[in-house]
Amino acid sequence: MKIGIIGSGNVGKALAKSGVRAGHAITLSASDPAHATAAAKETGAHAAASNVEAVNGADLVVIAVPYDRLGEVFRGFGTSVDGKVVIDATNHINVQNPGEVLGGISNSEEIQNRHPEVRVVKAFNYAFASRMADPTVDGVRLDGFVAGDDEDAKLKALEFVESIGFRPIDAGPLVIARVLEGMGLLNVLLQIRNEWPWQSGFKLIGPTGDGT
Ligand SMILES: NC(=O)c1ccc[n+]([C@@H]2O[C@H](COP(=O)([O-])OP(=O)(O)OC[C@H]3O[C@@H](n4cnc5c(N)ncnc54)[C@H](OP(=O)(O)O)[C@@H]3O)[C@@H](O)[C@H]2O)c1
Repeated sequence: MKIGIIGSGNVGKALAKSGVRAGHAITLSASDPAHATAAAKETGAHAAASNVEAVNGADLVVIAVPYDRLGEVFRGFGTSVDGKVVIDATNHINVQNPGEVLGGISNSEEIQNRHPEVRVVKAFNYAFASRMADPTVDGVRLDGFVAGDDEDAKLKALEFVESIGFRPIDAGPLVIARVLEGMGLLNVLLQIRNEWPWQSGFKLIGPTGDGT
């Protein structure tokens, strides 16, 4: 697939790395085009001079920017992502007051509400970047949950999720992004509380399909 990734930080680089390894053509963008160029060099991806250039001709778009940048990113897209499958990988974290972010709608629903012409799905936010680069731990694939209302968009996202090494799991409609964002927050809070090394993702065990 041809994939445009908006954001060339921890998440952008991790998905570029695993995406290139899986044989996808990945193009990265950043606020500062020099950061996209450096990230592309590091990962084997291409760099774009702008977000619009990154999504031009893409089969799939991944949003990997801080939550508070979503507005400017989507305003800047104009109509360039209309009809495209857009994976929202963002989290909205408030460590001091988790209740503030657990009460409302998800980032993904916010994007979908503001841009009904975009085919929004949620994925990846529940794992750390290190796991997005390498989703297999001790020979076991971590779970790659995907939530979305557009079934074809979700299938395309699940295909990408599986191609880079996660076990693909259809998590249901976009409203479930609230749960996935809660899992992302939990993952962050657990690292802080237990001084873990920021490398975990999720795995359902028990009889869950192929069990791998
Ligand atoms: N880090 C993780 O393990 C992890 C895991 C799950 C979810 N997430 C979520 O994923 C998102 C990205 O996290 P991250 O750790 O990758 O952040 P990061 O390392 O700070 O990188 C953010 C990237 O976004 C770019 N950016 C900001 N505004 C932009 C704009 N208007 N247009 C294009 N690019 C823009 C920045 O560009 P510059 O480089 O030019 O500043 C930077 O490359 C966040 O929402 C985070 O909550 C992170």
